[in-house]
Amino acid sequence: MGERRVFVVGSLNADHRVQVTRIPAAGETVLGSSVTVGAGGKGANQAVAAARAGAATRIVGVVGQDGDGDLIRTALSGESVDTHHVHTVAGTPTGRALITVDDSGENTIVVSPGANSTLSRDEVSAGLAGIGAGDHLLLQLETPMPIVAHAARAARDAGATVVVNAAPVPSAVENLLDLADLLVVNEHELADIAQRMRGDDARGGIEDDMAAVVAASGAGVVCTAGSAGAFVWSGDGVANVPSPTVAAVDSTAAGDTFIGYLAAGLAVDPDDLTGAIRYAVRAAAVAVTRPGAIDSIPHRDELETVTAATKERP
Ligand code: RIB
Repeated sequence: MGERRVFVVGSLNADHRVQVTRIPAAGETVLGSSVTVGAGGKGANQAVAAARAGAATRIVGVVGQDGDGDLIRTALSGESVDTHHVHTVAGTPTGRALITVDDSGENTIVVSPGANSTLSRDEVSAGLAGIGAGDHLLLQLETPMPIVAHAARAARDAGATVVVNAAPVPSAVENLLDLADLLVVNEHELADIAQRMRGDDARGGIEDDMAAVVAASGAGVVCTAGSAGAFVWSGDGVANVPSPTVAAVDSTAAGDTFIGYLAAGLAVDPDDLTGAIRYAVRAAAVAVTRPGAIDSIPHRDELETVTAATKERP
């Protein structure tokens, strides 16, 4: 068998980030720091994370013909990521994310998809040419749902493993989950999806919510939970993989770091989901200690030194 690869079909954004003391409530105005602009987008972040974890990685997506597009291309050019299927579209701006980060590292993100919305079926089909058994496809939901579903079907038909990061949660998520082998979400996304599947607005807790999603979709489920690490549905219940304790400055792209490292771990040993989650939790813990998206993602050789300097939770 040849090298197992990670394919990413997803968004590339310019992240406009402002630091605030606290995130404003609805209707409130707060003052923030000066704005920094960096390369991001869930697709780009996950591709960079998989590559920095050591996986052979390709990204499929679209940027605009503008300075933001150049910024993202420049950032990716320094990475071991195959960008031959990153297209440039004229007349539509590069996707843009407006991010606030507070003093505890929590954030809010609003995405204006721009060029990400123009990704076509033909571009996806060309980008996934050659995908097959042993490969992993990472999908997020900042590109149009029909395109995401097309990518999932193509990968599944070819025998690859489909990992769906259901962020942001769409209004109709059920059809997509039928195409997922593994769903990766944070606690808010899990609760939202479980409520839709149960048809109620009750907060079930992680275990009940995971059970609802597994029962309705059949996909495996992993839930990231910040400083609590991650939770995985193991068939007869939920297991926790704890995170090292770190001083968080910015949680942006921590979930993407987790997913990229998870896929890279599964590419090495597809039967060791828990081992891949342990690897991913450590990488995400490093990412939250640094500001920005792509800028915050660690290389695999950084994990030992940084997490050795932190205290494992009991
Ligand atoms: O997950 C973090 C990412 O979400 C940011 O980089 C932003 O671009 C949005 O896609």
